[in-house]
Amino acid sequence: MNSLVLLNGSPRGERSNSMKMLARVAEGWERGGGRTPEVLHLAQRSEFDRAVQAFGESDVVLLGMPLYTDAMPGIVKLYIEALAPRVEVAAAGERNPTLGFLVQSGFPEALHSRLLERYLEKLARRLGSPYAGTIVRGWGEALQMMPDEANKKLWARLRTLGEQLARDGRFGEEELDAVAGTERFSALAAALLSVALRLPAVQFMWNRRLKKNGVWERRFAAPYRPALRTGR
Ligand SMILES: Cc1cc2nc3c(=O)[nH]c(=O)nc-3n(C[C@H](O)[C@H](O)[C@H](O)COP(=O)(O)O)c2cc1C
Repeated sequence: MNSLVLLNGSPRGERSNSMKMLARVAEGWERGGGRTPEVLHLAQRSEFDRAVQAFGESDVVLLGMPLYTDAMPGIVKLYIEALAPRVEVAAAGERNPTLGFLVQSGFPEALHSRLLERYLEKLARRLGSPYAGTIVRGWGEALQMMPDEANKKLWARLRTLGEQLARDGRFGEEELDAVAGTERFSALAAALLSVALRLPAVQFMWNRRLKKNGVWERRFAAPYRPALRTGR
């Protein structure tokens, strides 16, 4: 395993949580003996086209993304669809690269990303690609607010995963479990959290964002509700 392409599937591009995490995996990859990876942001049109081409040229592709509505951002789906010709390439006996994924979500529990993880594993199988595993991590949005020094443990784990990828061609199960953190809250923790989310300090943060994005007046909009009613 030597060449790696890092694909950032976040519409936020460079300043995304996905990129912050992918960058640490890349550091570990180099520490494990891999060449400096090529980094491409799918949100950039020119880089998207290059990403489609690069798929066939590298030993390993690591595709990172935020969880969007329990699935993936549209640009990631678009990218996956652009890989359709590679299924025939694999059927004809040509090797597709080893595929690894990183999915990070806003909700803290890893559980939310598990369905997407299953889809991604199946995708690797369909492409005939060796599957390196999926890094799952909740609480991703906190990375926007916390200073980098506050996440030293997470960065260290991601570097270890990068190192494993370079050395073994896949992520280690133990390290994947460790990086995922809480799989599912206990009933008590969930109840406490739902109270905490109603605290004025937390509401203030969301309200400030709504105002900043000019959607405060429309915060209770439900554009699909009438359509659902007539559909009944
Ligand atoms: C349109 C949209 C849909 C989202 N859907 C989910 C979701 O279903 N579950 C979740 O836990 N987080 C969800 N999030 C939160 C993002 O996954 C989270 O903020 C992530 O850290 C953003 O990463 P990025 O900076 O790499 O884009 C959503 C965010 C957006 C903008």
